[in-house]
Amino acid sequence: MKERLEALKAEALQELAQVTNQQQLNDMRVKYLGKKGPLTEVLRGMGALSAEERPVIGQVANDVRGAIEAVIESKQAEYLQAETEARLRAETIDVTLPGRPAGLGAVHPISKVIQQIEDIFVGMGYTVAEGPEVEQDYYNFEALNLPKNHPARDMQDSFYVTEDILLRTHTSPVQVRTMEKMKGEVPVKIICPGRVYRRDDDDATHSHMFTQIEGLVIDRNIRMSDLKGTLLQFVQELFGKQTQIRMRPSFFPFTEPSAEVDVTCAMCGGAGCRVCKQTGWLEILGSGMVHPRVLEMAGYDPEEYSGFAFGMGVERIAMLKYDVEDIRHFYTNDLRFLKQFVHL
Ligand code: DAH
Repeated sequence: MKERLEALKAEALQELAQVTNQQQLNDMRVKYLGKKGPLTEVLRGMGALSAEERPVIGQVANDVRGAIEAVIESKQAEYLQAETEARLRAETIDVTLPGRPAGLGAVHPISKVIQQIEDIFVGMGYTVAEGPEVEQDYYNFEALNLPKNHPARDMQDSFYVTEDILLRTHTSPVQVRTMEKMKGEVPVKIICPGRVYRRDDDDATHSHMFTQIEGLVIDRNIRMSDLKGTLLQFVQELFGKQTQIRMRPSFFPFTEPSAEVDVTCAMCGGAGCRVCKQTGWLEILGSGMVHPRVLEMAGYDPEEYSGFAFGMGVERIAMLKYDVEDIRHFYTNDLRFLKQFVHL
């Protein structure tokens, strides 16, 4: 019996040496160590042995089993290791590869200019107000001293929704709404950025929709010199310290007196060039002292209070600041145009 066991061991070890994969190894395990295997069969026959022989053969049988198991286990470990290595190799990622660039969005140049202008005025103690783009005729015209049939209404051809409701043609109605909200309190010191709409044919300098920033200050003893000082400070922060302004008499129904404000051309420094049409000056906004009738209608006594107001086109300022030749660039969303402003 002992010889049979030794022979079995030799046979098993020899066969195991030929094993090359997991499947064959499983087969070997079943073949030699399984319930129907030769080892089990030998052990079953132990009952027929004598009491002296039994422990001796038992010992040999255990050794044989142990030897076979040891080989199987070491092969098993080898296969597991190989499998793990193969998986690691297959799943390897190269962490040193540069990532795919994610396209970064950017703030639109018009929004950027609005932010810059807001920052300047907030720095001077102004707050930012807002009003509706779909506006009542009363706020857009009437309360700004532009009664129905007033010829100056033609200056701003309008999109009407109903007879009394229109898309606002300027941000000036926010002046009135703000004064109403303040209920006669002072100081009023706001700027208001927002979209406005006009029935204009679009071309390089006109758009049916564009952006304005309105300013309004009301208090006691507000004078034209306050307006001038404020605007000078503003343009020097926006266009540079060397910038000068000039005020030309003008007309707006809601201001008296009214002035249009020019800045020295930043392109040529005032010498005259293509951008300023050789004049050295660029018109950037309308302004004036708030008309007594406008104050009165909004609940401020013009005998006690006075104020100034101004309004500017943001696209025009952006065009001057960044030498953009066509207002339509701001709306046509050509990324080649917009990308130039990413790092502003
Ligand atoms: N609302 C005027 C426009 O759209 C601009 C303007 C002029 C606003 C004078 C003002 C102002 O506040 O005082 O043409």
